[in-house]
Amino acid sequence: YQKIGLIGAMNEEIELLLADMQHNQRSDRAGITFYEGNFHGKEVVLCRSGVGKVNAAVTTQILIDAYGVDCILFTGVAGALHPELNIGDIVVSTSCMQHDMDVSALGFARGVIPYQEQSEFLAAPDLVEKAEAACQRLFDGRYRLGKVLSGDQFVASRELVRELHESMNGICTEMEGAAVAQVCNMNGTPFVVIRSMSDRADGSAHVNFGEFTVQAAKHSYQIIDDVLSHI
Ligand code: ADE
Repeated sequence: YQKIGLIGAMNEEIELLLADMQHNQRSDRAGITFYEGNFHGKEVVLCRSGVGKVNAAVTTQILIDAYGVDCILFTGVAGALHPELNIGDIVVSTSCMQHDMDVSALGFARGVIPYQEQSEFLAAPDLVEKAEAACQRLFDGRYRLGKVLSGDQFVASRELVRELHESMNGICTEMEGAAVAQVCNMNGTPFVVIRSMSDRADGSAHVNFGEFTVQAAKHSYQIIDDVLSHI
């Protein structure tokens, strides 16, 4: 890859990368700041998308069109859906889907985008492989590969966790990944989402999110750092 796009939704999710990278240019588009520079000798463009699918989608399209990135890595925190994931553990996306795309009234399964070939967007196998290798080096056993579910909703209920895990097979939930994935798919751009668990998306999620986001964001950063040095 010649030029790598790096996205986080919140300050906590990009600040460690920003501190580490040599950036020689910053510019604004659609109210988003893009930092162009170098990381482990690789050309990168780092940005904070803001929270939610619309912010993530717009940011992704700008990275592709205006900055010419040829792959995208998303870094950040998520709520765990898989019962064996602990706070701090890493998830590497094999695919992403929107859990709040719901046209079930017309007979479509939850998450299915009507009248469209694809609703589950596959991450690039080579990027997944590199992220997994990084997890093996740094997080021995404390990681999982699987489907990331995104929606414009902070999930904080055991019932919804069970539903998202059992009926949609998601292993973690967050608010941007599937939007990045869909826009990347529309443009033929490879992507992977790397998330560390800040909470279990249950009744304690709001407290855990406050307590563990900084630590979890650091774990996700460590994986990105390792991936960028092997990419
Ligand atoms: N990001 C971190 N925790 C989350 C949750 N429980 N729901 C949605 N996004 C999250």
